[in-house]
Amino acid sequence: MSSHGDPIPMTSSACGSLSGTADVPGDKSISHRSLILGAMAVGETTITGLLEGQDVLDTGRAMQAFGAEVINHGGGSWSVHGVGVGGFAEPDQVIDCGNSGTGVRLIMGAMATSPISVTFTGDASLNGRPMARVTDPLALFGCEAVGRSGGRLPMTLVGAADPVPVEYTVPVPSAQVKSAVLLAGLNAPGQTVVIEAEATRDHTERMLAGFGAEISTEVTDAGRVITLKGQPELKPLHIDVPRDPSSAAFPVCAALIVPGSDVLVPNIGLNPTRAGLFTTLREMGADLVYENEREEGGEPVADLRVRFSPDLVGIEVPAERAASMIDEYPVLSVVASFAKGQTHMPGVKELRVKESDRIDAMATGLRAAGVTVEDGPDWWTVTGLGHGNVPGGVTCASHLDHRIAMSFLVMGMATQKPMSVDDGGPIATSFPIFEPLMGGLGAQLRRD
Ligand code: S3P
Repeated sequence: MSSHGDPIPMTSSACGSLSGTADVPGDKSISHRSLILGAMAVGETTITGLLEGQDVLDTGRAMQAFGAEVINHGGGSWSVHGVGVGGFAEPDQVIDCGNSGTGVRLIMGAMATSPISVTFTGDASLNGRPMARVTDPLALFGCEAVGRSGGRLPMTLVGAADPVPVEYTVPVPSAQVKSAVLLAGLNAPGQTVVIEAEATRDHTERMLAGFGAEISTEVTDAGRVITLKGQPELKPLHIDVPRDPSSAAFPVCAALIVPGSDVLVPNIGLNPTRAGLFTTLREMGADLVYENEREEGGEPVADLRVRFSPDLVGIEVPAERAASMIDEYPVLSVVASFAKGQTHMPGVKELRVKESDRIDAMATGLRAAGVTVEDGPDWWTVTGLGHGNVPGGVTCASHLDHRIAMSFLVMGMATQKPMSVDDGGPIATSFPIFEPLMGGLGAQLRRD
């Protein structure tokens, strides 16, 4: 990936049709949490289907630096010998979380209530992202943080020696912030309470319950009130990581816009806190069918069957759906370019502080490719040109952002002229098999 290597310019051109089966990798959010909670349990946690993307590998290395033993058995099978809640050792090196906001924010939470000092850093993208949203609530536990101006990395956190439990209302819809507070609450005595007005992905809550923590969620007028009892002994677990709906989004959206396509994307988790894109695509007229719907490990799962959809229409995407599809707006804006009419996407201020300013990154590239995009601080609107009418033919900046790179490459599969990105390297952070997987379906992708 780019933070560890040279830029990888890539180009995508129109292809015949996409067909076959897309076996996408494991869920990134669940993979991070498996390693972190495995490291906080007592004994051996086993994991299958772990996403072996750079972000997750960086989290695994970090857990080793805190004293856990993290072993790769090959083929996505891993084990973690945990040190128990409160058992983290002080790392003797800086913790480099690479490109990963999830990695650094969750690890900050996990160490904040242990009496250790830890210095965190990342790549140019991560070192520009706001950390105060996490260090502010961690200060309530007694954790101190000193970083660069604007609350940015590199940053040193001194964990609380005598942590107190906290009640905290998350001010922005962020599963990372919620999770950091819950992980910090693990080593505080008494009950830690987190309140979120808007439901965000609930993998941390589900996994904590699986590891034996006492945790409950109550839905009230104020939102979801999550209560965690501190200082449990977490029992090791076997975790079979479901496949990532955010990665599935790329072959799904590609099949919708490439004429003649018919693709099966099996075993995709449809947790309602993650599946907003698929609902939105169906409202736009996508031929997207859930086959073989079932439950696996307490999560709804289905095989997604998706076919070329020539008559997509623009829609109003409800603001209250934003959290359940927050990582999917870049590729949705690509599909919206091939729809007829306007797709309006309100309530998405958080897109401005992801791996890049995702509204700006996509709007700039889409406009250069001939698509009309309007945007404001927390909304954007794409005016679609209809199938077959999107010019393309430009090189876009990926801004060290995997989802921006993959979105423009998907776009190039259906534009009149090829689409290029200046750096496809970041794709390895979340979807290391993107190129062979898309190539296997028939996509024309090349490294320039
Ligand atoms: C994630 C939460 C989201 C999401 C990110 C993964 C997580 O970030 O964008 O890719 O695993 O908790 P925010 O918490 O900043 O919304």
